[in-house]
Amino acid sequence: MTSSSVINVVGIGGSLRAGSQSERALRIALSGAEEAGATTRAVTGSQLVLPFYDTGIPDRTAEAEHLVETIRRADGLIIVSPGYHGALSGLVKNALDYIEDLRHDTRPYLDGRAVGLVAAAYGWQAAVTTLDQLRTIAHALRGWPTPLGGAVNTAEVKFDETGGASDDKIVANLRLIGRQVTEFARR
Ligand SMILES: Cc1cc2nc3c(=O)[nH]c(=O)nc-3n(C[C@H](O)[C@H](O)[C@H](O)COP(=O)(O)O)c2cc1C
Repeated sequence: MTSSSVINVVGIGGSLRAGSQSERALRIALSGAEEAGATTRAVTGSQLVLPFYDTGIPDRTAEAEHLVETIRRADGLIIVSPGYHGALSGLVKNALDYIEDLRHDTRPYLDGRAVGLVAAAYGWQAAVTTLDQLRTIAHALRGWPTPLGGAVNTAEVKFDETGGASDDKIVANLRLIGRQVTEFARR
């Protein structure tokens, strides 16, 4: 945890599309983290438009610095990606590549942090395969995926702009993921 007793949960993800369903799912999961007492912050949409991560270029754009510093201070994360061709989107993957900048930290990468993971795709197959990839990435980054992950089929559920959805069970599951991230961080 960071030095204060406040638990910081950072949400990353969504797409650039207006009304992004995956961003709405992310915000519901963050509301669950808040219910459990966390302070939350989201890095979404145009904030994720970063140059391709390049190990040969040490300079970082202001947006990239913001992302890296926000993750550095996080006690837990929630990462949500749309499923693109059965995988996470390039936008989200490139943002996650920037976690490489934390490699020399005392808490390298996502070490010791709970990570809630959600994939949203227009069918079950891509939702499940994308969730699996997000878990693999979280493990590679030394993070601790929460017991519950989210595979959301956006052909069957619609998220509205007020933080609700056509399926209350999905909303409850997303909130639970957020709570699990906060509870792990508190321990
Ligand atoms: C480039 C692209 C590729 C996609 N590939 C798949 C796919 O393989 N399987 C699937 O079920 N949905 C696929 N979709 C649909 C999205 O996963 C789905 O609409 C998702 O809800 C979009 O999230 P968003 O509203 O946050 O943009 C694709 C969408 C795009 C734009």
